[in-house]
Amino acid sequence: MRLLHGTRNNRNPEKGFCYRYFKWILWFSISFYFFSSFLITRNKPTSSISRTTVSHNKASRALIEESFNSSLHKTKISDELFDGMKVYVYELPSKYNTDWLSNERCSSHLFAAEVAIHRALVRSDARTFDPWEADFFFVPVYVSCNFSTVNGFPAIGHARSLIAAAIDLVSSQYSFWNRSRGADHVFVASHDFGSCFHTLEDVAIADGVPKFLKNSIILQTFGVKHNHPCQDVEHVVIPPYISPESVRSTLAKSPLTNRRDIFAFFRGKMELHPKNVSGRFYSKRVRTEIWRRYSGNRRFYLKRERFAGYQSEIVRSKFCLCPLGWAPWSPRLVESVALGCVPVIIADGIRLPFPSAVPWADISLTVEETAVDRLGDILEHVAATNLTSIQRNLWDPAVRGALLFNVPILEGDATWQVLESLSMRLDRSHRRSSASV
Ligand SMILES: *[C@@H]1O[C@H](CO)[C@@H](O)[C@H](O)[C@H]1NC(C)=O
Ligand SMILES: *[C@@H]1O[C@H](CO)[C@@H](O)[C@H](O)[C@H]1NC(C)=O
Ligand SMILES: *[C@@H]1O[C@H](CO)[C@@H](O)[C@H](O)[C@H]1NC(C)=O
Ligand SMILES: *[C@@H]1O[C@H](CO)[C@@H](O)[C@H](O)[C@H]1NC(C)=O
Ligand SMILES: *[C@@H]1O[C@H](CO)[C@@H](O)[C@H](O)[C@H]1NC(C)=O
Repeated sequence: MRLLHGTRNNRNPEKGFCYRYFKWILWFSISFYFFSSFLITRNKPTSSISRTTVSHNKASRALIEESFNSSLHKTKISDELFDGMKVYVYELPSKYNTDWLSNERCSSHLFAAEVAIHRALVRSDARTFDPWEADFFFVPVYVSCNFSTVNGFPAIGHARSLIAAAIDLVSSQYSFWNRSRGADHVFVASHDFGSCFHTLEDVAIADGVPKFLKNSIILQTFGVKHNHPCQDVEHVVIPPYISPESVRSTLAKSPLTNRRDIFAFFRGKMELHPKNVSGRFYSKRVRTEIWRRYSGNRRFYLKRERFAGYQSEIVRSKFCLCPLGWAPWSPRLVESVALGCVPVIIADGIRLPFPSAVPWADISLTVEETAVDRLGDILEHVAATNLTSIQRNLWDPAVRGALLFNVPILEGDATWQVLESLSMRLDRSHRRSSASV
């Protein structure tokens, strides 16, 4: 089995005239796209302005797609960016990744960052085909795509063995794992408790981070401020996956600055009588308390049943409640930010993704789990004082785009932030440390 593509002397063979020419078109269309979305979000839309900017936006998106389609799907990342960092992406047998895509949900559900980051990296200029010039090695294993036929949730019981097998493979055939003991190798762990690979926190804690991953870098959705066995490894907190296309299509129908007629919104599981699951209760009973206190309050739009069109509700809302579930993080964080609804984070101790790109304190509210009984007063107070300034901060396109994984990468998006975070860890690059000796 050949895992490596190309050799020292054989990289980026396609850099012809056409390629360079298309890169310019690409650059132009990306800039145009950002400029037009800037117009949309910054202009108080009198209807005529919003109509023209929206159609510009559509036109530029078509332009982007067109140039992507004909330009090998590459996004320019210049050599000055990220300190010239290069990432090698292992080509593993398809049973580790692409086989799982036969189930369409694999690439679109909330754990799909493992797929999106892989897809974005293989199309990016940060990729190198020459492992000898790589700073980091990305190991693409899709562990959250084995959906249980019983309840439809991802079964991650096989995650450890699948990753272990992938490591065996790359470490037996190539020298890069052994020379750093995995320290410059990067994995995604996008499930509830990240690199502990279990859905229940007590079991996750008991299992801990597998030994074979302990030296590596894990991109994981799980993050808390206190010490926790499931972050006892070098890691980057990443957002859960929300399809950027779904966000764009929601905003095309209902622009960010439309009137928001829902005061406080939550749709999702709110158990009336949560079960004691080995000593723990779903959402630490916070969601139960929210339902109990506010389901009769007309300012609160709370729904317990599923509804596929819920993004259209988020874009109509001023405040979006983001209480913990089993884990502290939730896809609502990403959807609220992307759709301009102020997230109300109720998950004590949560550590949020990409703090250098997303000024969380300026764009969201944090309410302690024990303070949900005062939620109504807290939100009324903010609405009467600084809601407008929070919204202004939140509606900055750079903020709203930072939590979405696009394919290919767009400047400032979630995969871009991942690259930025890796570039802060270049001290782990074996190539650089040996070059400097
Ligand atoms: C680009 O390709 C995608 C999928 O291959 C297709 O859906 C889309 O319509 C194409 N866009 C243009 C502008 O040709
Ligand atoms: C999928 O998950 C189930 C339950 O954890 C496991 O028994 C099975 O081996 C997994 N499938 C593969 C191909 O790993
Ligand atoms: C890496 O180390 C393992 C365990 O010591 C060994 O089995 C394997 O052959 C080594 N890989 C290479 C490429 O030397
Ligand atoms: C929940 O169940 C555990 C046993 O699994 C028990 O020790 C604990 O007291 C129960 N807690 C409550 C609040 O009922
Ligand atoms: C808005 O006001 C709340 C409390 O009234 C405060 O906690 C928060 O920091 C303020 N946010 C901004 C962005 O001014």
